[in-house]
Amino acid sequence: MTRHRFSGHGAEAGMRFSVITIFPEFFDSPLSCGILSKAREKGLVAFRFINPREYSTDKHHNVDDRPYGGGPGMVMAVDPLRRALDTLPSSARILVLSPKGRPLTQDLARDLAQEEELALVCGRYEGIDARLEQLCPMELVSVGDFVLNGGEAGALCLIEAVGRLIPDFMGKDESADEESFSSGLLEYPHYTRPEEYQGLKVPEVLSSGHHGRIAAWRREKSLEATLSLRPDILDRALLTGEDIRYLKGLERTRPGRNLHVALVHYPVENKSGQTVTTSLTNLDLHDIARVSCTYGLGGYYICTPVRDQQQLAHTLIGHWREGYGLKANPDRGVALARVKVVSLLGEAIADITERTGQRPRVVGTSAKAGTLTFAQVSAWLAGDPVLLVLGTGHGLHGSLLADADGTLRAIRFMDRYNHLSVRSAASIMVDRLLGDAG
Ligand SMILES: C[S@@+](CC[C@H](N)C(=O)[O-])C[C@H]1O[C@@H](n2cnc3c(N)ncnc32)[C@H](O)[C@@H]1O
Repeated sequence: MTRHRFSGHGAEAGMRFSVITIFPEFFDSPLSCGILSKAREKGLVAFRFINPREYSTDKHHNVDDRPYGGGPGMVMAVDPLRRALDTLPSSARILVLSPKGRPLTQDLARDLAQEEELALVCGRYEGIDARLEQLCPMELVSVGDFVLNGGEAGALCLIEAVGRLIPDFMGKDESADEESFSSGLLEYPHYTRPEEYQGLKVPEVLSSGHHGRIAAWRREKSLEATLSLRPDILDRALLTGEDIRYLKGLERTRPGRNLHVALVHYPVENKSGQTVTTSLTNLDLHDIARVSCTYGLGGYYICTPVRDQQQLAHTLIGHWREGYGLKANPDRGVALARVKVVSLLGEAIADITERTGQRPRVVGTSAKAGTLTFAQVSAWLAGDPVLLVLGTGHGLHGSLLADADGTLRAIRFMDRYNHLSVRSAASIMVDRLLGDAG
């Protein structure tokens, strides 16, 4: 394969890829087979390889050296790479494959497919001397949150993802349009002959010849696959009203059921660090109940040992569940039906243990402290019940935090001001823990 000049008839007309790599031979086989090879023959894409070794002024053609500051491994030196990049035309868009880069997505691939020339810099060893980025305008691109031996495998992913979006690259133009991610959804399932295999039949609709029904079935399967496998991409997907109605009708395992919340009125601290009991508020009662209902939580406990306060909570709940409120706004009664009033946190833990057959993991919350990440608690939720304990006043008493299985890291823990109302904090925490674009 040509190393310095472009190979493929696309050198003038198609899209050009310049790959800066110390292992050009890495690309020999992948670019010589399948659609990529055909696209090269048709002149739709052209490749050239620039080896920084040839630009090394070192007598052994070394391109790496030991890292300043010590540590394992070697670092790619700036000079051979810079010289190699100097050979590129100014119109080339330079991308460096790096785990620190912007993720390679279908949207980025679409954007890159508009270019005439892409230059792909492949790092090796521990990475590239940081000064290269300061000297040459370049964008960092990552192919995923993992570490590869070098940028070549990532460059190949990028070449394929971008190449197939070039007009005429695919057999039929629409093949690329209907694939996963092109409309923000995962793709529907495919079938080919035989019509029945080991008792499994191809869905009947696909043999009906009815284009409208086939298209509708495929859209539904796409929506189902995305909801169950990648709910995180749904919030960016372009959905019609019909799509949304279909998604609403789908039965799905509610991830929220393992999560329970408790709002503690005693023991909590006041401004001076004294142990106090706080009064309940109508707003917290309503708003956290509505969050619990919206996210399908396992339960919402209000913990106050004061009889009057317990009575007040029952009166407020009763108004919406049985009284005038039920007629005025029945939905509110549905949310408030989830509220349980208990004396102390221990009672909430005992209730969850009895209902689920498992003692919940108890997660404290605080605006000041906490090291548990949302991802850690989300992972617990996959298998165990979790009780998220929210404080009132100036926060949960130290004894509750000490007895918990851990304390969640504060929302905006790096900012100076993070004084949220408990009901705002509850909404943000629940969404971060269960956030599923629903
Ligand atoms: C062993 S890696 C260096 C990793 C680096 N020490 C770090 O921790 O970020 C060597 C080279 O592989 C490429 N590479 C590794 N993982 C990558 C990824 N996920 N996406 C894109 N390129 C990657 C980069 O070009 C990188 O310079």
